[in-house]
Amino acid sequence: MADCKSRRTMGERRIEHPLFAALYDRFMPDRFLIGPHREYLAADLSGRVLDLGAGTGAMIPYAADAGDADLEYHAVEPDPNMRRRAAGTAERSDVQVHLRDARAESLPYADDAFDAVLSSLVFCTIGDPDAALEEVARVLKPGGELRFLEHVRNDGWRARAQDRLNPVWERAAGGCQLNRETVERFVGHDAFDVLELERVSVGVFPVTPIVRGRLRRRRDPSLSIDQ
Ligand SMILES: C[S@@+](CC[C@H](N)C(=O)[O-])C[C@H]1O[C@@H](n2cnc3c(N)ncnc32)[C@H](O)[C@@H]1O
Repeated sequence: MADCKSRRTMGERRIEHPLFAALYDRFMPDRFLIGPHREYLAADLSGRVLDLGAGTGAMIPYAADAGDADLEYHAVEPDPNMRRRAAGTAERSDVQVHLRDARAESLPYADDAFDAVLSSLVFCTIGDPDAALEEVARVLKPGGELRFLEHVRNDGWRARAQDRLNPVWERAAGGCQLNRETVERFVGHDAFDVLELERVSVGVFPVTPIVRGRLRRRRDPSLSIDQ
């Protein structure tokens, strides 16, 4: 089940990629390749969870399977074509999904609102990833987790090839950037401790490498040790 609310700031460019949304599930090698990593993101979820850039709602069935009975699942998705599909996925699932039209850079939630934030293949597409990470740090409770699965910039000639391909790729793939240094961005942020970080063996060039991990929101950003 889903409840949707509209929210848009004046002057923002609309995020709308109808063809990308229509083809997304067909081309996502989900069940066998990405599925185990979605299970990793969803493992033992409990409390209030936010799915950032939910897309077609691919994470929802995994959260419904693996999450606690008390799970309160929230999701933001700014593209109406994706959001409509996520609402359909939510209707078919056993978990109630509070789905909103919002962007990661400006989350419509109070400080310390969530026990976990899920980011699955989203930081490649967000317009302002630094602002989005600030928002994730703000809405996570101290001790809460950012769990992510992201493709990132490669090394050497592959990175240079990604840089060249990127202008065409971003047009074809709903704004996705091949060459974001997302791990450096995450690890370098002083609001988080790294709990796990792992390169996973899925993905085909130019969408490699793919990295998954868990970061914990520090209780005191000035301390770099786990609390
Ligand atoms: C590659 S899809 C991933 C969808 C889903 N998380 C998954 O795992 O399949 C990226 C999604 O991020 C959404 N997106 C784009 N800009 C965003 C933003 N500023 N804030 C939140 N989501 C955004 C896109 O509309 C798209 O649905």
